[in-house]
Formats: sequence, structure tokens, C-alpha cells
Amino acid sequence: MIVVTGATGNVGRTLVRLLAEQGHQVTAVARRITGADVPVGVRALATDLSQPTADLSSEVDAVFLLVGGELMMAGDASQVVGAWADAGKIVLLSSQGVATRADSPSHGLALAAFEQAVMASGTDWTFLRPGGFASNAFAWAPSVTAARTIAAPFGEVGLPIIDPDDIAAVAAATLTQPGHEKAIYELTGPALTTPRQRATAIAEAIGEPVTFREQTREEAYAQMLGFMPAQVVETTLDILGTPTVQEQRISPDVEKILGRTPATFADWANRNAAAFR
Ligand SMILES: NC(=O)c1ccc[n+]([C@@H]2O[C@H](COP(=O)([O-])OP(=O)(O)OC[C@H]3O[C@@H](n4cnc5c(N)ncnc54)[C@H](OP(=O)(O)O)[C@@H]3O)[C@@H](O)[C@H]2O)c1
Repeated sequence: MIVVTGATGNVGRTLVRLLAEQGHQVTAVARRITGADVPVGVRALATDLSQPTADLSSEVDAVFLLVGGELMMAGDASQVVGAWADAGKIVLLSSQGVATRADSPSHGLALAAFEQAVMASGTDWTFLRPGGFASNAFAWAPSVTAARTIAAPFGEVGLPIIDPDDIAAVAAATLTQPGHEKAIYELTGPALTTPRQRATAIAEAIGEPVTFREQTREEAYAQMLGFMPAQVVETTLDILGTPTVQEQRISPDVEKILGRTPATFADWANRNAAAFR
């Protein structure tokens, strides 16, 4: 059996579908998940990873471990990971920030603690370290639907944004195929895109003009404080405004694992156009 945590999120929902389509027995985990969230035949298990279900691990061939938000920042990594110590393998959704923002509490240190706990668990492991997700652009959906505008900082700075469906496809491969033990994969899209180019891609996806307005760092900071802690905002703005060489590098890993190029931001926008109409 394969366990997918974060099963109702951007990556996990697609991963559950892919594994079920491949005929695997899947248990999908999130705090508020119900049977309506998963394909027929998949078991939905509502549980909080900070209070793990003790007896599940022994039946598990592999677990996709996603520790988002509060759990990542404040969870006890050894306790969360320890619940899966009897699983055959752990594929951890980590972050590129573990390497590129190693001193940042939010982007580096928090997930580094989970990587270390997984390495110490004695279980086979694979770490997926993606850069920024295309799905972060869902934050623009309200202003696009209401006023056909997008406001964002650093309009001309490019990053190789990744489609979360490609992260899910890589996760499915590493959970089910041999040869990925003790591997660390950096996951990016196929090209740098700037916020202005992403706004154009969304406009093309919905078939209507969208106005792009560049925010100052201060404006963006004030807005992002509404939904992120201050230290997360600071590092996020550093990455968006002054990315390191590694953060702008196109990684070969998605293509190496999937045998195809990663999806472009335009592919993601076309698939998710309904959210912006
Ligand atoms: N966005 C980016 O640009 C980016 C870049 C690099 C790495 N990452 C990493 O990617 C991860 C986020 O992935 P995502 O976008 O797919 O996630 P997401 O869409 O935010 O979904 C989070 C999932 O985790 C579940 N969850 C949250 N807290 C939980 C808990 N305590 N116990 C059990 N389930 C819990 C949520 O469901 P419930 O709320 O119902 O529990 C949901 O299914 C984070 O670890 C982040 O650090 C993100």
C-alpha cells in the first residue's frame, strides 16, 4: 500500500489520481479529507500528521510525506517522520530552499530538519526539492476574475516555475520504481518565466487581456503579510527579487525521471484557466 499525505493539495491530489490509475492500493491522508476527495477505490484517512496514526506504518510499502504550513514550521520532525519508520520507503516533498536558503528558518532550516529525521529513520528515502510552484499563481485568481489585473513585484525577474502535476508525476515514479534510493532531485520547470510573462500566459489562457502592474517590494510585503508569517514573506521576496544562480538554473531532473520535458507555465495556465475566468 502507498500512503499519500497532503492528499487534497496541489501535488497530493494529482499524485493520488496517478497512483490509483496505475492500479496501486492507495491511502490518501489529510486532516479534513473525505471519500468525496478521492477516486473510487482509494481509502481516505482523516488524520493530523502531528498526532500520527500509530499502527499504519507496518502495512506501508512507501509513503509520500508532505509537511506544509504550521506542521513544517512548528512540527516535531522526529515524531512526524517516526510514525513512518516501518514503511518501505519515504519520498519527502522538501524544497530547493534547503540548499539555496540554508539559513532561512522557513525555507531552509524547517525542511532540513525533516530531511535529517528521514535520513535518521533507517528507511529508504528520496528527497524532492522543487523551486516555486505554478500553483502559487492561484493567489492572482481573485484580481483576475474581478478586474482582469495582476499586481506582483519584480515583474522582469525570471524563475523556472514548476507545474505541481510534474512534481506528482516524479513522486509517483520514485514511490513505485527502483533506483531512486538516497537520491535528491531538484525539480524545476523547463524555462525561466517572469511574473509579467506569467500574467500574459494567464491572459492567453482565458482569452482576455489582463493588466500587469508591478508592485514595490514594500507593497508586496504588506499584501503577503495577510496570509504568510513575516519571516516567510522576507525570504519569499528575496527569492522572487534576487534569486541565486541555482534558483534560476533549469534542472535536468524532471526530464531524467519522466523521459519528457517538464510542463511550461502556459501549459499550467491553460489547464487551470477556469480558476481565472
Ligand atoms: N509553493 C511553493 O512554491 C513551494 C516551493 C517549494 C516547496 N514547497 C513545499 O510544498 C509543500 C506544499 O505542497 P502543496 O502546494 O501541494 O500543498 P497544499 O496545496 O498547501 O496542501 C497541503 C496539504 O497538506 C494537508 N495538511 C496540512 N497540514 C496537515 C497536518 N497537520 N496533518 C495532515 N495533513 C495536513 C492539507 O489538508 P488539510 O488542511 O485538510 O489537512 C493539504 O492536503 C510544502 O511543504 C512547501 O514547503 C512549496
